[in-house]
Amino acid sequence: MISARIKVGIVAPSAKTRARLHKVVSASELAEVSLETDTYCLGKGKGSTRRFLEVLPEFILVDLEDPEAAIQTLQTLHSALPESWMVVTSEKKRAQLIIRAMQAGAREFLGQPIVKGKLSQALERYVAEKQCNNEPQKVGKIYCVTAAKGGTGATSVAINLATAVAQGQENNVALIDLGSPIGDAAVYLDVKPKFTISDTLSASSRLDSVLLQTFAGHCHGLSILPGPREFHPGQIPDVEALSVMLEVVRQAYTHAFVDLPASLGEEHLRTAIELSEAMIVVLTPELPSIWRTDRLLRFLDGSVGSEKVHLILNRSSNGSDEITNGEIEKTVKQPIFWSLPNDYRASSEAVKLGKPLVSMNNSQLAHSYVELAYRLTGTVRPKKKKQRFSSILEILKIGERFNGTS
Ligand SMILES: Nc1ncnc2c1ncn2[C@@H]1O[C@H](COP(=O)(O)OP(=O)(O)O)[C@@H](O)[C@H]1O
Ligand SMILES: [Mg+2]
Repeated sequence: MISARIKVGIVAPSAKTRARLHKVVSASELAEVSLETDTYCLGKGKGSTRRFLEVLPEFILVDLEDPEAAIQTLQTLHSALPESWMVVTSEKKRAQLIIRAMQAGAREFLGQPIVKGKLSQALERYVAEKQCNNEPQKVGKIYCVTAAKGGTGATSVAINLATAVAQGQENNVALIDLGSPIGDAAVYLDVKPKFTISDTLSASSRLDSVLLQTFAGHCHGLSILPGPREFHPGQIPDVEALSVMLEVVRQAYTHAFVDLPASLGEEHLRTAIELSEAMIVVLTPELPSIWRTDRLLRFLDGSVGSEKVHLILNRSSNGSDEITNGEIEKTVKQPIFWSLPNDYRASSEAVKLGKPLVSMNNSQLAHSYVELAYRLTGTVRPKKKKQRFSSILEILKIGERFNGTS
């Protein structure tokens, strides 16, 4: 954090120069002199260097009166206080000396006499650079969603997680449908965007955040890059283009959920997984799904890596005839990260209305999607009150049944 006034250190052998430098710093509203010395810092153990280490000035003015001692001072302070912004100053503008000063760690040169405006500009450049470095690297997070068997719920999970995360005011979320040979996320959301993922991929050589966002459609607070609209078996995207697109996706959005068919190709899966935070593998508690998931996980483990795999059990009913979580985990040798309840009525109603379930009802499944989104991304904390309210409603309903009023 930058303090209200920038702490300035001055190294200048001449009393006259020091007084001039002191005056111009004091005249600035941005800075104050916190250390002033006539002695160059000729090594880390020297007294003058120790004073700098005690005071920790953020901005250091070094006079080049004794060029060799000044260069040595820059080297010493650059290594002792790498965060400090060092500026060299001199009456004469000697190009070779300035280059050596820059190589020794100086950030810029100010010719003497230094006028107030020139110092202010240098201080502002320091502040701007500091703020820029303090800003966290803005790289969005990609979550791939896949399933070893069609009809398991991968598209539903991708849509609902994306919608849940998009509720966060700070979040800018994309849903990317790599569905092949056809994508169905747009049909689930009842949108007909102008462009498909194929348009985005074919523009990969000139793709940037701005162009990517012009290809995207918008619905339910999401940006959507829909899959192919026509049935074209065997048409899979170019791996290079996919990699470029996902890199740009990370720059353009805070979060992206990719509906990723496991059949896409080994290189495609490797590329997508490498650029992702998590690989969500959806399965259902039925033998064919478990069997296929086991084979998929073995493939991922042996080829592209399974460290990012998060196993999601969908349509779990906890019925007595259902294969238990323990049995599933033992078979696929992977812990279940989350279980989503079975609710065919709510799911199919959402598809029929062309809306994500989390945006339209308060079902247990909708809550479970929101909880899962929070567990995965750490954003958009689920609302607890509604859950308490629904359980009170349940108690009232039970009471009504006991009273014979229902
Ligand atoms: N938790 C759930 N409970 C009941 N039905 C679900 C659930 N999740 C998804 N479905 C339904 O299962 C079907 C297949 O879902 P989909 O997301 O298209 O699977 P996939 O993308 O894996 O093929 C859809 O009809 C969907 O409404
Ligand atoms: Mg699907």
